[in-house]
Amino acid sequence: MELKLKIDEELCTACKLCQQVCIRDNIEVEEYARELGSGTCFECGHCVAICKAGAITLKSYEGLEDRIQEFNPRENVLEYDQLLEFLKRRRSIRWFRKNKKVDRETFDKLFEGAYYSPTAQNEQDVEFAVVDEKLDEFMELVYDIIKVDEDKFFRIREFGDYLKDSSTKEFHPLLWSGNQLILTFSADKTSAVIANTRLELLAYSLGLGGFYSLFILKADEIDHVRLMEFFPQIDKNKHMYSAFIIGYPRVRFRRTIPHKKINVNYL
Ligand SMILES: Cc1cc2nc3c(=O)[nH]c(=O)nc-3n(C[C@H](O)[C@H](O)[C@H](O)COP(=O)(O)O)c2cc1C
Repeated sequence: MELKLKIDEELCTACKLCQQVCIRDNIEVEEYARELGSGTCFECGHCVAICKAGAITLKSYEGLEDRIQEFNPRENVLEYDQLLEFLKRRRSIRWFRKNKKVDRETFDKLFEGAYYSPTAQNEQDVEFAVVDEKLDEFMELVYDIIKVDEDKFFRIREFGDYLKDSSTKEFHPLLWSGNQLILTFSADKTSAVIANTRLELLAYSLGLGGFYSLFILKADEIDHVRLMEFFPQIDKNKHMYSAFIIGYPRVRFRRTIPHKKINVNYL
């Protein structure tokens, strides 16, 4: 069986922490830690992250050791009150500054946060597309797919009217004043949504804003195969599970609003 871990026997202190946190019972510790090679390791990295001696690395991530960052496990880097305040103040942004686009460096900062997202089975299969120059072309495809639902949703009808004569309306019925779009793909819906949510929060921390689009997502629900033709480089087994319009806000909100009571069921 192929071994996934590289264990430095000299460094190992046989403390057994790695064995304790391995959810696949793949490590045994006697004189030092040894991988059992049960074939079930999915490289979750718990053993790497917990080892006090730094004795374990993952073979398939060789060359990416600069990604390993030491930290004090007792240190709380974000206080609840500060995070809550941040979450409270966010709102969807639909009106953006015309002359200031999000640049590559800033996008990279957002994707860097998504890099640390959990994914189902640690697949790390979340992929993004930034639609910018090809936005009009993409939106025409979206319309062509979702127009079957025109009678059900007035927004789709408005979208069709807008495309036919874009001079009549000031704002795009789906994009408002947005002109950059982040799409998130994965085989697993939850993984994609988690990644995009983190990206969204980081965006707010950088003074950006945006909103999720339900209608763009409909294109994947209605005709996944056709939609994916626009993204030949993305695996067809992945779905577009999140569409986030992003940019620099042109409006500033100044207070929170009341929300419906949140229902929590303690069972
Ligand atoms: C899954 C999802 C889909 C959404 N779709 C749209 C959309 O298609 N168009 C839009 O303008 N806003 C969309 N929104 C934004 C919501 O309308 C917005 O979150 C809600 O009005 C609450 O306002 P707030 O985000 O400013 O707190 C969507 C939000 C979510 C979470």
